Formats: sequence, structure tokens, C-alpha cells
Amino acid sequence: MDRWTDKAAIVTGASAGIGAAIAKALVERGVTVVGVARRIEKIEELSENLADAPGKLYAVRCDVTKEEEILSAFEWVANHVGPIHILVNNAGLSRPSYLTDGASEDWRYVLEVNVMALCICTREAVKNMKENGVAGHIVHINSVVGHYVPNLPKPDFNVYPATKHAVTALTESLRQELRSQGSAIKVTSISPGVVKTGATECLAVDGATAGAKPFPMLEAGDVAEAVVYVLSTGVNVHIFSENMDRWTDKVAIVTGASAGIGAAISKALVEKGLNVVGIARRIEKIEELSKSLVDAPGKLYAVRCDVTKEEDILRMFKWVTDHVGPVHILINNAGLTRPTHLIDGATEEWRRVFEVNVMALCICTREAVKIMKENDIAGHIVHMNSVVGHYVPNLPKPNFNVYPASKFAVTALTESLRQELRYHESGIKVTSISPGVVKTEFADGFPEDGTKEAIESFPILKPEDIAEAVIYVLSTGPSVHVQELTIRPLGEMF
Ligand SMILES: NC(=O)c1ccc[n+]([C@@H]2O[C@H](COP(=O)([O-])OP(=O)(O)OC[C@H]3O[C@@H](n4cnc5c(N)ncnc54)[C@H](OP(=O)(O)O)[C@@H]3O)[C@@H](O)[C@H]2O)c1
Repeated sequence: MDRWTDKAAIVTGASAGIGAAIAKALVERGVTVVGVARRIEKIEELSENLADAPGKLYAVRCDVTKEEEILSAFEWVANHVGPIHILVNNAGLSRPSYLTDGASEDWRYVLEVNVMALCICTREAVKNMKENGVAGHIVHINSVVGHYVPNLPKPDFNVYPATKHAVTALTESLRQELRSQGSAIKVTSISPGVVKTGATECLAVDGATAGAKPFPMLEAGDVAEAVVYVLSTGVNVHIFSENMDRWTDKVAIVTGASAGIGAAISKALVEKGLNVVGIARRIEKIEELSKSLVDAPGKLYAVRCDVTKEEDILRMFKWVTDHVGPVHILINNAGLTRPTHLIDGATEEWRRVFEVNVMALCICTREAVKIMKENDIAGHIVHMNSVVGHYVPNLPKPNFNVYPASKFAVTALTESLRQELRYHESGIKVTSISPGVVKTEFADGFPEDGTKEAIESFPILKPEDIAEAVIYVLSTGPSVHVQELTIRPLGEMF
């Protein structure tokens, strides 16, 4: 976070809940935060409590449904604090109403706060960042209901999911505008499940009166940690490595550890003190990596395994249990694409992609869950997905064939597994990490027609960036579950 020290951040809705937690986390990391809200006295109180922190918290009164108040708040920041580096669009609300008989003014109010204010604040922040040559960061606090509408027994969300779906679209539209302008400003959407704040306490009460179990809820500080993580990416990344303590000396299995992302993840985990079993066909590559890590606190074992062969996978799990110990972390990373097409491709190529990317992931997951359950381990399973597991990029020369379908399957498998684990009241977590283009041997799977070279000329992530994302998701506390983490190189084209 060093590069944000003494820089100005605006946090909307900083008087309570998530906004207050974010303001506090940033001030504790030396950022100069301007908290905006109507209840300014709450922010002033928080500011007094943070008097000894390295940063500073200013309070500015602003009703974000009034454009003139937003404009004067931004002007105040520019005149009194300095160029804006970070904007956290956190202010948001839901109103008790229904689509079938609700009041128009309630709906309009929710849209004004959750969507219009976010657009206006973003425009003003981008203008200020551009004028001052700042490679800033805009964070939208979205919601899981920005991605699907939960089918509740008593549906009372009315326009709220629509406003958060709008935030999802606005994040991508802004990313595309910034990319087309060659801007270094980043935009991130963070989508929490239910967070314990004044606004949601009623949910637990309603749930209890309806005879349901109380909802599991996040703490506002958990979302603040996610904000600190996303702000930390890029330059001199330092994330919550101290929270990796609970995994010290524990066993992790990383599939596809002989190259690229899997090798980087294996290295990062060994450096955090884990006993890592790297599996792949090219075992000599893992052995070489293991030798370079002899002085690290953990250890890297190499096991030969072709994940298209179920008997290899079963043998590998037995070997790990017998020789290293019960698995605590499984990273389903092995994956590939093949140079073929849907209109005239070879069946065998398609089958191979599905065998590695989907079937092997399911088999490894089943075996890991079995061992975790037998040993009462609240483990963590990470699926290496892809941005193309969420949409099919419309490239001038389409060369992806069955690959996006295999990754869409991983997206669905992540949620299906989460639901099965929840049903069984398991403490095991499952996370999908969806990278954009990463510089690895993966591009060898494209045809010899210039695609590989074209891809390597795109903005590109390093395997270490993905390893850091894995460390972040593993570092979250036992009650925090990062389900999906999308990570792109800044300025990615598709
Ligand atoms: N690079 C990207 O742009 C990108 C972007 C998004 C997502 N991803 C995903 O990230 C994951 C890792 O890809 P990468 O970019 O690191 O690719 P990479 O450099 O080509 O590495 C692929 C790894 O998968 C292993 N593997 C492939 N087939 C296998 C099999 N039959 N049995 C055992 N291991 C097998 C390979 O090991 P051996 O050949 O030694 O067996 C290798 O270790 C994949 O799931 C990929 O879909 C990559």
C-alpha cells in the first residue's frame, strides 16, 4: 500500500457499515481519506478515534442524490486535500418495497444513490485524476445480487438487484472506456454477500422469525480487507501474508505445477511454509523448482501424474496421504487449450480439453473433499478458471473452440460445489480465480497462425500476479469466502 501513503481517497457512505470500515482501514495504512455522507457527525467521531493512525480522515457532508452537493464535495477535496487517487463508491441502499405495488419515489431513490451517484462521482474522480496525471483506482462496492437475483421464499428485493446489475455493467463499460483512452486508471467491482451492518441486521431477525437459521454474515472489516487487497495489486504487492499462519506445515496439492501459473503458485506456497505436492507429467521441471526452494520454509514434492488418467489421480492422492499428510489445499490449476476449431476439429482434441479442464478438476475435488472430511479439515479448493469462463470474447480470428465451454463449466462447478458444501454444513471453501491473459506456455495451444504472437503483444499478467491472488483468497478468515476473483492485466482488450 506504500504508493498510496498520504494520497487522497474519497469514500462515499463513510458514516456507517462497510464505508466506515473501509475509511478506517485506509487511514490505518496512511491514506488521507475524505468520508462523505449525510451524517457527518458519525465520520467526525470515527476521525477522532483514528487520531493516532498514520493517515487522516476528513468528514464532508454530502447527500449523493444531489448533484450539486457531489460537485461541491469534490471541489472541496481538490482545494483542501489534493488530487484524488482513490474513489470508493460505497454509498448504497435498498428500500422496503415491491415491484408489483411499490412507490415510484422509493425505486427512484434507490436508483439515484446506487447508480446515478456512482456515475457522477466516478466522472468527477476520473476528471480530477486525468488533470493531475494520477494512475488512480475506482472501487465500486457491488453485491452478489449484482450477478444473479436470489430466488428467496419471500422476494422483497424489488429494484435493488437491478441497480447492482447496473453496477456490474458500469464497471465493464468504464473499464472499456479507460482502456480505449490508454488510461492507467483501474476500476474494480467488489461483490460481497450479506455483510453485518445496520442495514442488514433486520435480515437475521426476519430469518429467525421465519423459522430459518440466522444468515451467515460477513463483517464490514472483511470487505475493507478486500479493498486493501485490490488497491495493493500492481506495484510492490504486499498482502495479508501474516494470515497464512494457519496453513504453515499443511499440505497443498497443485495440479499443473511444472510450468506457468501452477509453478508460481507452488513457489509462493512453499515460501509461506506449506508442504506442496506439485503434480504434472513433466516431473523434472517440478524437481528443478524444488531444488531452487531448498532454503524456503516449506517443501516442494514432485509427483508424476497425467490428470487424464483417473488411476494416476487416485494413486497420487494415496501417495500424498501416506507420505506427506492429509490435503488441506487443492489448487485445480492444470488446464489447456488446443489448436483446433468447432466446425472441423478433431474429437480427440476436444475430449482432451474437457478431460483436463473439467473431468480431472471434478475427480481431484472429490478425492480432496473425501480426505478433508475424513480428517475434519476446513480446507480450501481453488479452481483456476479464466475470464473466458464468464463470456466468449468476440475475436477477429476465433481460435478458442471448446476452451470457453470448459471454463464456463468450471464457473458452474464452483457454484454447484459451494451449494453441496453448504448443504453438508462443511467448513471447506471453494474459490474460482479467473485471470485474463497470463504469460505462460498456455499460448502454445493456439494455432501457428500468429495468434500466439498477437496474444503475447497484449497487456499481459505475470504468473506471480495469480499466485498473489491465491495467497489473498487463502488468507481470508475462516468465515470469509471469496467465491470469485477476476484479475486482468490493466488495459486488456477483450
Ligand atoms: N495463460 C493464460 O493466459 C491463462 C488465462 C486464464 C486462465 N488460465 C488457466 O490457468 C491454468 C494454468 O495455465 P498456464 O497458463 O499456467 O499454462 P501452462 O504454462 O501451459 O501450464 C499448464 C500446466 O498444466 C499441466 N497439464 C496439462 N495437461 C496435463 C495432464 N494431462 N496431466 C497433468 N498436468 C497437465 C502442465 O503440465 P505437464 O505438461 O508437465 O503435464 C502444466 O504444468 C489453466 O487452467 C488455464 O486454463 C491461463
